[in-house]
Amino acid sequence: MTEIFNNAPRYMTIFSFFSSLLPFFLWLSIYQAKKKNIKIHFISQSVLLGLTLLSVVYFEIMVRMYGGFLEFSENSLVPYGFLIAYLFLHIIIASSSLGGWIYLYITSLKAYTRNNEEYFKSNKHKRIGIAIFIALSVNSIMGLLLYVFLFWY
Ligand code: HEM
Repeated sequence: MTEIFNNAPRYMTIFSFFSSLLPFFLWLSIYQAKKKNIKIHFISQSVLLGLTLLSVVYFEIMVRMYGGFLEFSENSLVPYGFLIAYLFLHIIIASSSLGGWIYLYITSLKAYTRNNEEYFKSNKHKRIGIAIFIALSVNSIMGLLLYVFLFWY
């Protein structure tokens, strides 16, 4: 990947690679819930959310240290106006899906530790969980496309 996209800084490639794997691991975690392996579902959600937050912090630090969007977009073959609009949409979906994920995680953790079975029976957890899974997956595809737009030239 680094050879094809040799214009991309390594931190961008690492972050994009991690983001592209996230939907598969999320699906595996949800599949565990479906099979009623709740402990595995809970542990995997904790690990995935923790890793995601760490990688976002890593990304934010590296972007500030080694340059970011404006610099990269100068070399891109994709028109600047489109890139800006696309980035804007991507940031909105990324922050709302990550915020929703953190919210669902904290509410579920509270219900889980208080043995609140009603909460999980109500179907709300499942509906919000699926919506967040879809939003995170769309976001991950959008992020990969942005990587291609910026570095494939
Ligand atoms: C502290 C964290 C969490 C705990 C303790 C937890 C617990 C559970 C439990 C007990 C169920 C089974 C509900 C039932 O009886 O039908 C479940 C299902 C589910 N969870 Fe979680 N969950 C957590 C976090 C999450 C998060 C963050 C997501 C989304 C990203 C998620 C997505 C789902 C989905 C989609 C289902 C439905 C699976 C199915 O039956 O098809 N969960 N979870």
